Amino acid sequence: MLYCRFAFNLLLIGVIGHAETLQRSSKPSVGIIGAGVGGSTAAWFLKEELGSDVHIDIFEQGEVGGRTQVFQHSDQVFEMGASIIHEENRYFRELADKMGLARTRLGGDGNEVSIFDGKRFVFNESSWTVVTLYRMLRRYGLSYFYMRQGPQTMLQRFLKLYALQAEGKAFGTPEDLLQAVDLYKLTQRNFRNEIQDRIGRSAAADLFAKEFVAGINRIQYNQGNDINALAGMVSLLPTIDGRLFKIKGGNRLLPERLIRAANASLHQDVTVTRVHRTQEGLFTLQYRSSSADELVKGRRYAAVLVATPLELTRLEFTGFKVPHMPVRKYQTTVTTLIEGRLRPDYFGVEALPRGEYVMVSEDAQTPFSVIGPQKDLPNGLRIYKLFSKQPLANATVAAIFANSTVLSSREWKAYPHFSPPERFPPFQLVPGIYLNNAWENAASAMEMSAVAAKNCALLIAQHLRRVASSSNGGLDAADSSMDGAKSEL
Ligand SMILES: *[C@@H]1O[C@H](CO)[C@@H](O)[C@H](O)[C@H]1NC(C)=O
Ligand SMILES: *[C@@H]1O[C@H](CO)[C@@H](O)[C@H](O)[C@H]1NC(C)=O
Ligand SMILES: *[C@@H]1O[C@H](CO)[C@@H](O)[C@H](O)[C@H]1NC(C)=O
Ligand SMILES: *[C@@H]1O[C@H](CO)[C@@H](O)[C@H](O)[C@H]1NC(C)=O
Repeated sequence: MLYCRFAFNLLLIGVIGHAETLQRSSKPSVGIIGAGVGGSTAAWFLKEELGSDVHIDIFEQGEVGGRTQVFQHSDQVFEMGASIIHEENRYFRELADKMGLARTRLGGDGNEVSIFDGKRFVFNESSWTVVTLYRMLRRYGLSYFYMRQGPQTMLQRFLKLYALQAEGKAFGTPEDLLQAVDLYKLTQRNFRNEIQDRIGRSAAADLFAKEFVAGINRIQYNQGNDINALAGMVSLLPTIDGRLFKIKGGNRLLPERLIRAANASLHQDVTVTRVHRTQEGLFTLQYRSSSADELVKGRRYAAVLVATPLELTRLEFTGFKVPHMPVRKYQTTVTTLIEGRLRPDYFGVEALPRGEYVMVSEDAQTPFSVIGPQKDLPNGLRIYKLFSKQPLANATVAAIFANSTVLSSREWKAYPHFSPPERFPPFQLVPGIYLNNAWENAASAMEMSAVAAKNCALLIAQHLRRVASSSNGGLDAADSSMDGAKSEL
């Protein structure tokens, strides 16, 4: 019934595009900063729009895949970052199929969930659905049934975006994109108020909000109910139908394959430090690299997509006036994989609830935000995945687990720290520069990055066509094959 989304050398200084040589080739180049889900899907969508009429360079300072990374343990792959995908996440589903990647369905595997309030288990899921429903009704009244309409309505509206994007509609700001499908208002509301409006105030409703809803939010976003209402609905979506999957072998395979399929040139260990707009309206990039990358020196980009949270970079923009942008905070989440056995005494019980999947209520003062069993081992131990706000001390691990070994631990700036009413930077900073993460504080998910990437790819294609038709500034050849495709320009 409940599912867990799991749900991130400075040797040479180079200036790309410093050389005087303008590209003699008539192909425009697009630079993408970041090889995560956003950057890689943008490369693919750009290629879909423009075919071989565009050259794409992708710059990545860390790993391809961004916040989708795995830990490999013997023959098992564990997602350490973004991990679950909903069946209605169409881009992810379709792209996985196109790239020949298999999907693994999630859920229904007997990991019954319990809710711990810091002192005791206040709710235990049963392996019998009817028993679980009875327990839900007894503790929470009809709250679950009143609440589930919210994520469903949100999903129906979200699905309209695919139709708009298929028609080539692109939006310069997150506000316009969200308003087009009537989702903007949710980003301006506190989820706590939205919950109360849906389920009312009563002892049962309050317990539902703080134990069930907040417990899910702590899994999804490592935050309580004071997130914006759209993020809250996205967070709850997996609990209403459980149609979830992940990519077999690791979600990061998708970004990897997309970059190859888009024929983009990947430049790794490159930290872009400045985007400069030249007088002709092209862009040069300055970067630091541990492996001087001569290939991209001298290149002038017709457009640049920043596909990483700007707040976490020290990227500078020069040569144009940067519009005012809100500063968004990111939430730190530590993922820890532990082999061992949960200690019943830590939770004050003789025997643990069956599933050993422990979510925690909003006010539970636990050092973790969720514990999810991942795999049973032949030696009687299990592998568990934990999320926490801080790295777990060894003593904490030893208090919670017997026979414990920490297999892997990873600290992320995982998603925005939501803070309604949300303020967004624009997708289009100025014509030619785009921010893929502009709407990440509406709700953060891999599919949200992919939808933003489609929007930015459409904006970039429009920009390139506009430039090509208004001048011969090195973009002339591109025009003939593009004008038929989208005529709104
Ligand atoms: C892939 O990119 C390279 C370098 O930009 C180019 O020479 C080649 O023609 C491209 N191939 C395809 C299939 O687009
Ligand atoms: C859930 O299970 C635990 C132990 O397995 C038990 O101590 C606790 O009382 C149960 N909670 C409820 C609400 O039944
Ligand atoms: C925690 O334990 C690991 C190995 O089990 C060890 O390498 C590490 O130094 C310990 N950390 C602290 C803070 O004691
Ligand atoms: C777990 O630890 C106990 C003693 O601390 C030991 O007796 C037992 O063999 C260990 N179990 C495994 C599977 O390592």
